[in-house]
Amino acid sequence: MDVTTLDDLQTREYWDSRYAQEGAQMTYDWFKSWPELESHLLPHIGDKSARVLELGCGNSTITPALYSLGFHQVTSLDFSSTVIEQMRGKHPEINWVEMDIREMIEKDGELGGAASWDVVLDKGTLDALVAEKGSVWDPSERVRENARREIDAVLHLLRPGGRFLYMTWMSRPLRMPFLERAEWKIEVLPVNDGNGLDYYLYVCTKHGEASVADAAAAGEGTP
Ligand SMILES: C[S@@+](CC[C@H](N)C(=O)[O-])C[C@H]1O[C@@H](n2cnc3c(N)ncnc32)[C@H](O)[C@@H]1O
Repeated sequence: MDVTTLDDLQTREYWDSRYAQEGAQMTYDWFKSWPELESHLLPHIGDKSARVLELGCGNSTITPALYSLGFHQVTSLDFSSTVIEQMRGKHPEINWVEMDIREMIEKDGELGGAASWDVVLDKGTLDALVAEKGSVWDPSERVRENARREIDAVLHLLRPGGRFLYMTWMSRPLRMPFLERAEWKIEVLPVNDGNGLDYYLYVCTKHGEASVADAAAAGEGTP
C-alpha cells in the first residue's frame, strides 16, 4: 500500500499492509540504526536493569540490539499486528505488545501499570502520529490530540526520574509544542550524521527521583 496522503501514516491499515509487503525478514530503521545511535542513547538509558519500553517499534533493530547487550527488561510495542507477529517470530526473547499508543493509559495493566518504566523510547513514531497533509506550523486538532495522548501516557508510565528518549528530524519549534509539560525537563541534543542531515534526540526526564542513568553514573544499581 502506497502512502496516498501523509495522514495514512496515522493508520493501522497502512502499516499492516506495508509490513505484510516487506515480509518477516525485513528490518528497517527510520533515521538511524543502532550502531549510529548507540553512543547517543546508551548514556541516557542507564544500567542493564533498566526497564525499557519502545513505542512504535516496527521492524527496527533497537530492542534486539539492547537485548543482546544485556538489557533484558525490554518491551516493544506497535499497533500493527503484522509486525508484532513477525518480530515475535524472530526475537521470542523480547516482549512484544500489540497496542495503540493512544490507548496506553486505559490498557496500562498490560504494560505493568503506572510508573513502571525507567525509559520509554520513540524513534519516528510520534512523527507518524502527527503526520498530516497541511501546515506543520498549524496542526489539526486530531493531530494535537494524538500527541497529547501519547505524551500523557508516557508521563503516566514513566517512574519519577524516568526518561522519554525521542528521536526525530523535527527541530524544536515544531516539536516543543507537543512535548512541553510541567512534569519533566527537556534537553534537545543534535545528532549529526556528517552528511548534512540533522536529527534531534529529545531527552525528557520526569521530575522526581534520580534517573537510572544518573544512578548508574553514581555507582548504584546493577553493572
Ligand atoms: C515511522 S515508523 C518507526 C518505526 C521504528 N520506531 C523505527 O525507528 O524504525 C512508525 C511506527 O509506529 C507505528 N505506529 C504508528 N502509529 C501508532 C500508534 N497509534 N500506536 C502504536 N504504533 C503506532 C507504526 O506501525 C510503525 O511501526
